[in-house]
Amino acid sequence: MNQTTKISRLSNDNSSINVQWEDGQISNFNYLWLRDNCPCDIDVHPTARERRFNLIDVSENIKPKSYKINIDGKLEIKWDEGDHISSFDQKWLRNHCYTINNNKEYCSPYKLWDNSLDLSKVTIDCSEIMDSEEGLINWLEILNQFGIAIVKNAPTENNSGLKVINKISHVRETFFGTPFEVIDIPNPNNSAYTAGKLHNHTDLPYYEYAPGYQFLHCLINEVDGGMSSIVDGFKVSDFLRNNNPEVFDTLVNTYVKFKNNDFTQETIRFFHAPLITLNKDKDYNDIRFSVSTMGIIDCGPKDVEKFYKAYRKFAGLLHSEDYSVKFRLNKGDIFSFNNRRTVHGRTKYNPNSGHRHLQGYYLDRDEILGKLNYLKKIEL
Ligand SMILES: [Fe+2]
Repeated sequence: MNQTTKISRLSNDNSSINVQWEDGQISNFNYLWLRDNCPCDIDVHPTARERRFNLIDVSENIKPKSYKINIDGKLEIKWDEGDHISSFDQKWLRNHCYTINNNKEYCSPYKLWDNSLDLSKVTIDCSEIMDSEEGLINWLEILNQFGIAIVKNAPTENNSGLKVINKISHVRETFFGTPFEVIDIPNPNNSAYTAGKLHNHTDLPYYEYAPGYQFLHCLINEVDGGMSSIVDGFKVSDFLRNNNPEVFDTLVNTYVKFKNNDFTQETIRFFHAPLITLNKDKDYNDIRFSVSTMGIIDCGPKDVEKFYKAYRKFAGLLHSEDYSVKFRLNKGDIFSFNNRRTVHGRTKYNPNSGHRHLQGYYLDRDEILGKLNYLKKIEL
């Protein structure tokens, strides 16, 4: 981070220490915040890196008896309770200053795309991922920024995708099994296990916490048809936010039921969630969309008409040629995508024209972000 981390002046008031930095920026550090974030080994476990100090062990009126920049250049505070001294690194204070950080303009990590997406930008060779940390970081960054990556030249033995995916982390288990076999079978418990067309959808929207990423590993694809499609749900959401704010608000505010009770399950799963959710910065958090597993709508009578109007608009865009990227999965490809951002589908194929076998895996979004943060040494 290219910013000064040197304090030029210290003062205090009833509730906080005020810092003036050499570049003129001002920070206020609340006393309780400072005491709560004391980094000493007594207060933070040195290997677990978890807080041991409990804020309720001091009064809400705790304040410094004295404070100064000490000989090590740290802000040293002697507290008037508990006979405790806290020392804060200046760089740490600057990086964690809630005054300055909350004034910064939010910068979205997402690169939104439509049908003009150049797939070569999101394609990576399997050997890069397996042989170098840079390759793994590149894959994770593509996934985080674009929500889609195509890994080329992966091995094609049964279950061999797991070795590649385990470079990131452990998989997320579901009742479909690991891996799940995307093939044409009789009496399927999911439309994916047929040769039919699949409408664009997110997987498992009836889970409270739908899997964050999906990996479809193509072992063989010799059939006529079966073209894959993918749409950036965040891009579509962004279009609606800018052009149809009423539709956007309805999609963000209406809770929609999704359900699964297929014949192989001894469970009945259902969950209500909006089709679009936002994060604390009002950026896109996730979308849920699945014609086949959306349950019977049970929102209030005054919202039904409004919801269906918004839903039709959203569904239309999520299947629109303007947003859809289409391609053919080839043997050795791992089609990887953010299952809570994009919708994916495929055209029907002729099962008598040859073999088509994909093996699927899920991973939570925490694993992608957690690994990326670790490899990029993000400071907390
Ligand atoms: Fe799917």
